[in-house]
Amino acid sequence: MSFPPAIRRKFWGHDFSSPVMLASGTAGFGEELLDLKCLSGVGAVVSKAVTLKPREGNLPPRLLETPFGLLNSIGLANPGVHHVLNCILPAAAALPCPFLINVAGESVDEFADVVNILEDSSVHIGYEINVSCPNVAEGGTAFGVDPEVVLRVAQGVSRVTDRPFSVKLTPNGGDIVQSAEAAVEGGASAVTVCNTFLGMHIDWKTGKSVIRRKVAGYTSPALLPLVVAKVWQVSNAVSVPVISSGGVSRGEDVLQLLAAGAQMVQVGTRLMRRPFAASELMDEMKKLTGE
Ligand code: SIN
Repeated sequence: MSFPPAIRRKFWGHDFSSPVMLASGTAGFGEELLDLKCLSGVGAVVSKAVTLKPREGNLPPRLLETPFGLLNSIGLANPGVHHVLNCILPAAAALPCPFLINVAGESVDEFADVVNILEDSSVHIGYEINVSCPNVAEGGTAFGVDPEVVLRVAQGVSRVTDRPFSVKLTPNGGDIVQSAEAAVEGGASAVTVCNTFLGMHIDWKTGKSVIRRKVAGYTSPALLPLVVAKVWQVSNAVSVPVISSGGVSRGEDVLQLLAAGAQMVQVGTRLMRRPFAASELMDEMKKLTGE
């Protein structure tokens, strides 16, 4: 790798003018951002997680802004794979950038079942397999911390698609390098490092968690050094590209993650405040590097 890292990237055989991907759960299926015309600077959009059956998600309160970040406990709310396939993906075809579908499941087989159904669409270039949601009882973090389960999920997905897929890993327990190696052994074409960190906010007046499900997923610019370390560790251990996720608020953060070994960099929570974040990050990176 040369330094400073190049902004233009090659990923999964596609040329990307921007390394910035919109992280799952922060851009829906891209349709609202398309309406708002704020996809400039976006290299790719990753959809909200899709499961076999529709899910209402967790009961509220399930979102809390903290002084330095955001706690989320959404619980994989989504309309289910059949609705996504028939009613949402046709509109996603209008996106001006590549589209990846984030897939979740409650059992090892469900991941492959959902992917198999989505194979009827030609809109997406690949998948992000979510074995790391901290807000569900089945199929989330409990899967991601166990390399044996990660291997079986990846093998199942490999059997039903020729499209590339990334496995989104958890920072919460287990050994992320071992889980990444298991994903690659199972056929993953990338790994996403990483999902949200466990967090909690307790109301000191009552002693109760403000979030209904108590512990939630935390995102914050302050997590950047933690994500940089995990990206560096994983990218030194596996042969497939690493997609970073977490901690980005400035162009120099994206460049640092690329320098740490990420091939693409997801931005998420930043979009909640700044829907044009990708374009702003690109402007900052161009100024910094002169590219
Ligand atoms: C959620 O829906 O609870 C968040 C998704 C995730 O962290 O994977």
